[in-house]
Amino acid sequence: MAEVVHTPRVFSGIQPSGGLTLGNYLGAMKRFVDMQGSGIETIYCMVDLHAITVWQDPDKLRHATRELCAGFIASGLDPSKSILFNQSQVAEHTQLAWIFNCVARMGWMKRMTQFKDKAGKNAENASLGLFGYPALMAADILIYHATHVPVGEDQKQHLELTRDIAIKFNNDFGVEFFPVTEPVIEGAATRVMSLRDGSKKMSKSDPSDMSRINLTDDADTIAKKIRKAKTDPEPLPSEVKGLEGRPEARNLVNIYAALSDQGVDDVMRDVGGKQFGAFKPMLADLAVDKLAPISGEMARLMQDTGEIDRILADGASRARAIAAPILQKTYEIVGMVGA
Ligand code: TYM
Repeated sequence: MAEVVHTPRVFSGIQPSGGLTLGNYLGAMKRFVDMQGSGIETIYCMVDLHAITVWQDPDKLRHATRELCAGFIASGLDPSKSILFNQSQVAEHTQLAWIFNCVARMGWMKRMTQFKDKAGKNAENASLGLFGYPALMAADILIYHATHVPVGEDQKQHLELTRDIAIKFNNDFGVEFFPVTEPVIEGAATRVMSLRDGSKKMSKSDPSDMSRINLTDDADTIAKKIRKAKTDPEPLPSEVKGLEGRPEARNLVNIYAALSDQGVDDVMRDVGGKQFGAFKPMLADLAVDKLAPISGEMARLMQDTGEIDRILADGASRARAIAAPILQKTYEIVGMVGA
């Protein structure tokens, strides 16, 4: 069968599970903005159905979904250029996820490290949704025939599974229907680490608030967290290879590079030889400069949740217009009468 060439289309999602971190911003949101307006359609989703795979208080979930939308817009996403919506408003995601539940294999799911991490020692007590999470994620992407998915490094395994599901579906039914999606894991900050421990990912679920910068932190808090970030006693090297074995130093340099849109090599040339006592204030100024306007704008947007809800409803109807025919065609391929 002739290879079908899919029109490039970008999709990505973030869970509204409370609190956006600098990791979310640099690994995902900032890069979503970079892809907007490049002539490719961009679709960005607040994945509320993924969030409830672990317990969410309903009022907090509503708040977090709207706050995430505000965060998207404050970071530079324009609802007239990108489609912004929350997942539960487009039922086609869950409808396709069911089909994918029947394509994906138990063994594939059992290998997912995010499930193992999140379920912890008591996997028997994890929700079935948490186990099936990656099939819904594959559906999020493939219901739009998305070809490119910008994410941080921690999502790589899920994207490989998405490719496996697309390939198996196409093989099982003898079609070239779903694209084999490309993960786009690029830039200096694909894995932002904790400010307290350079071997752990920066995460909203870390018990220590000092380990992360939140997009809602004010300027003083951002500066204080950077000042107190763990480092080593050596000055910064002038070449990247001098950062080997120095994960905390590497992390702060990566953050600096990503925030200033420079390569890590260029940053090293500028800051090589400096002590952390001099570098940390530079990083704090840069972080405040870039992040404080975002948190200010988020707070302003959150004063009019009606407007946010209108943006989400409009995005959902545009998303549905793309998703519905793809679901219809999938049902036909699978053999559903009436499709
Ligand atoms: P989530 O909500 O955990 O994270 C959203 C995005 O932020 C990135 N990220 C980071 N990047 C660099 N350093 C960090 N410390 C860091 N922490 C988080 C994540 O890699 C991600 O890109 N399963 C997804 C949500 C999802 C999705 C999708 C993504 C659902 N469906 C379809 C893409 C396409 C998740 O839990 O991301």
